[in-house]
Amino acid sequence: MTNQQKLEDLKSLILKNNICPELANGATQMVFGSGFEDSKVVFIGEAPGKNEDLQGEPFVGAAGKFLNEMLDSANLKREDVYITNIVKYRPPNNRDPLPEEKKQFWPYLLKQIEIIKPKVVVTLGRHSGQAFLPSLRISADHGSPRNIRENYTDKITGKLVELKFTILPLYHPAAALYNGGLRQTLVEDFQVVRKLIK
Ligand code: URA
Repeated sequence: MTNQQKLEDLKSLILKNNICPELANGATQMVFGSGFEDSKVVFIGEAPGKNEDLQGEPFVGAAGKFLNEMLDSANLKREDVYITNIVKYRPPNNRDPLPEEKKQFWPYLLKQIEIIKPKVVVTLGRHSGQAFLPSLRISADHGSPRNIRENYTDKITGKLVELKFTILPLYHPAAALYNGGLRQTLVEDFQVVRKLIK
């Protein structure tokens, strides 16, 4: 089975298991993830916004345009990387996802990572970073890679799985839209992504 098929099955499982029905009911569709299913790098945002909800793809709005620019600056193409979010449905009025919502999607996100087997997982923003590194301080820790292990119970097989990968916490691209000073920081941190996957 290809990774693409495995990811399709995982998406169906989220629907079958009725994850976060309150969010699902208020959303246009699920934003599961997109890009290259065998990529060495997976980018993880927080949750879809309005444009993402309408188009069914992560990072297609203003933050997404900026993410594309950052990828370009590191000589990476969007079709060579995989992009997803912790929470797969748009929260109402773009509010922050609740801890319970993140918790419900967590094993499915880890399964996504297990299928793709990236070398590097890039978290975009404090919320996504703290899901993997609870003590993360984005201002101090951005751009510094760390090797981590994550244990989770596979929802299909019921087995305990251990994942190992390098995590690279970055600022959220939307943060640089509001704070121009962060733009250069992100450009520099994207060079770290490039080096890590070389
Ligand atoms: N912000 C996110 O965290 N994810 C998206 O998909 C879009 C904006």
